[in-house]
Amino acid sequence: MRPTRFDELSSSYEDLLRDPIRDRFAGQESTFFHRRKSELIRRFFRRRNIDTSGLRHLDVGCGKGELLSMLRADFKHSAGCDVSVDMMREITGVETRVQIDPLQIPFEDGSFDLVTAVCVYHHVPVADRPSLTQEIQRVLKPGGIFCMIEHNPRNPVTRLIVSRTPVDADAILLEAAEARGLAAGAGLLPVEHSYFLYFPQTLYRYVGWMEGMLTKLPFGGQYALFSQRPLA
Ligand SMILES: C[S@@+](CC[C@H](N)C(=O)[O-])C[C@H]1O[C@@H](n2cnc3c(N)ncnc32)[C@H](O)[C@@H]1O
Repeated sequence: MRPTRFDELSSSYEDLLRDPIRDRFAGQESTFFHRRKSELIRRFFRRRNIDTSGLRHLDVGCGKGELLSMLRADFKHSAGCDVSVDMMREITGVETRVQIDPLQIPFEDGSFDLVTAVCVYHHVPVADRPSLTQEIQRVLKPGGIFCMIEHNPRNPVTRLIVSRTPVDADAILLEAAEARGLAAGAGLLPVEHSYFLYFPQTLYRYVGWMEGMLTKLPFGGQYALFSQRPLA
């Protein structure tokens, strides 16, 4: 198997993500961005009174597995897949499978209640995005949820950071409208979308509750789109 771009980046991945604005935003908490995403996903299920302890979670493009490890205790089974063997090399305690073909998810039809793809799509060529979304639809159980989290191109600070981050040299950001179109094109039903990452960690500790009032404004640093595979 030929090494992927992320295989080459993986040994210095954290250093290559470093950026003065990004680092200040995360403050003292190195896992701030992953924590915010795991909380967002947890709240999605809590708001609907859905107990996730019997559910199966797959993280597509799981990278180093931070989100998987943060959410592992919430789910009965957690799994990750990625086109990069090296990115996943140090993940432990979670099932991982290598995605040999970027457009084929190495899991069976209808096998997951939740599929996440976090900051993956902007690395996927635009023409391939519908096929990847169709694959995500395939591995979801009927009624299962797809959560896509992406950088928000409408946020100028996000755009600036992406433009100077080596990891994102191949990035083509997608607007939430494109993300919604991809989900709809794969036959997924819209459930919810929200913009988040308005406040840096130092402020979020005190006024984080205010983000709840800003989720519909398209200016947060990232957005999360939830959609659902129809029941029948
Ligand atoms: C920016 S990293 C994000 C990793 C992780 N999701 C996170 O939030 O930290 C993007 C990841 O997507 C993976 N990737 C890129 N294209 C992919 C595809 N078609 N299918 C699965 N993974 C892919 C890369 O190998 C890389 O690990």
